[in-house]
Amino acid sequence: MNPLLFSPAQHAEAVALLADFSKRYLATVADRPVYPPIDRPALRALKTQPMPREGQPLQALFAELDQVVVPNSTHTAHPRFLPYVQPSPNALSPYADHVAGVINQNCNLWHLSPAANAVEQAVLRWFADLFGLPQTAGGIITSGGSMANMVALTAARDHALGDTARTDGLQGGRAPLVLYASEEVHSSIDKAVSMLGLGTRHLRNIPADHAFRIRLDALAQAVAADRAAGLTPFCVVGSAGTVTTGAIDPIAELSAFCRAQGMWLHIDGAYGALSALSPRFREPMSAIALADSVSLDPHKFLFCAFEAGCVLVRDRQHLRHAFHAQPSYLTMSEDPDFIDFANQGPQLSRAFKALKVWWSLKHFGADAYGRVIDGMHDLAVYMGRQLSARPGFELLAPVVFNCVCFRLANLDDDGNRRVLRELVDSGDAFLGPASVKGRTGLRACFMNLRTTEADVDFIIERLASLAAGD
Ligand SMILES: Cc1ncc(COP(=O)(O)O)c(C=O)c1O
Repeated sequence: MNPLLFSPAQHAEAVALLADFSKRYLATVADRPVYPPIDRPALRALKTQPMPREGQPLQALFAELDQVVVPNSTHTAHPRFLPYVQPSPNALSPYADHVAGVINQNCNLWHLSPAANAVEQAVLRWFADLFGLPQTAGGIITSGGSMANMVALTAARDHALGDTARTDGLQGGRAPLVLYASEEVHSSIDKAVSMLGLGTRHLRNIPADHAFRIRLDALAQAVAADRAAGLTPFCVVGSAGTVTTGAIDPIAELSAFCRAQGMWLHIDGAYGALSALSPRFREPMSAIALADSVSLDPHKFLFCAFEAGCVLVRDRQHLRHAFHAQPSYLTMSEDPDFIDFANQGPQLSRAFKALKVWWSLKHFGADAYGRVIDGMHDLAVYMGRQLSARPGFELLAPVVFNCVCFRLANLDDDGNRRVLRELVDSGDAFLGPASVKGRTGLRACFMNLRTTEADVDFIIERLASLAAGD
């Protein structure tokens, strides 16, 4: 037998070890330190292991997981893991990843993955319908929100450059393209701007108002000034959930402005767009229907295991314009029922990520997501109320979504940073840093499926005693 294949008995052993590991890990995750006491000698030894000439038994691999990997991992499924915009995964999606690996569909050309192609189209349609985008809309599942933003801005740039976008790129001797986003925008936009050769000095960071939303008057002034200087404003990036406070830019107003100016409106909804699954947030998200493109992240509010992002464009031809490539060694035939996703994004070989998105919605149902998202918001509101009522704490921003930005009022910036570091190092809870209008504090983002109000109470007590130097 080929040495890289398993006999039926070896398959049974692998599945048993995997099932046992998964069950044990999830049953004990809440009892572990959220952030591990890192065993540096063990990780140094791991990094310098020689490449094995002979294989090791499966039990040895799983034993090493138990002895070295898990004890030195950050436990994102722990109920008090609350930094960044990073959820714990739903119970099903790791199994979907396993199945996707077993059938190993290559979701590039439809011939290599007909059913997976239909599944990806189905979930893209579900999302487009969720936001009320028209039938012309299309998209692609990506690795995450950063890549979704990159794909959208590529389509926007190439639309602005027109027919010579692919051949001349930015070197066609035209006036520089300029784009606009609020000062609260996520850093993935800066990264995309630099990767796309636009130059970050052509990204205007427009001031945000008291509620952390882009200021339309400042946007209009900046665009007018750039036009007067001979530059070409081409795109506005609005946020449906800014990364720090969860604010939603005025999307309908941005759309009217962009239409009047002949500019592309991209909405970075990596954080918040999928909150449209909750009736509570559907209305604030409804203006996404007006955008030219939107990013959303199934590995955030669908709680899929990493990685799964998504970008939708109002007219799928824009993706084709930006990414179409048909080398003779790949091309077979096009078919109106299917989409060659290799021509809708930057990747050629692509995993069947759509399976975990599809299964998550099919198994749990959209309504369950609505309830879970409301529960996350409720926890943030609860924490905001507890902190407001307690001396020594100060909210840095109103709680409008599932995150809470606050500071320890009796400590300076360094003191706030010290307490955050000590909290994380203690392994009791993991929050993130916050910088709000230049003020430094801490941030709890509720995206964890196991968190309760008791965890919030525990964290507040721990912070109070760390702030007191106990
Ligand atoms: C608003 C926003 N945009 C983009 C991203 C990047 O998404 P990803 O980490 O999936 O690349 C994030 C991540 O938190 C985000 O909050």
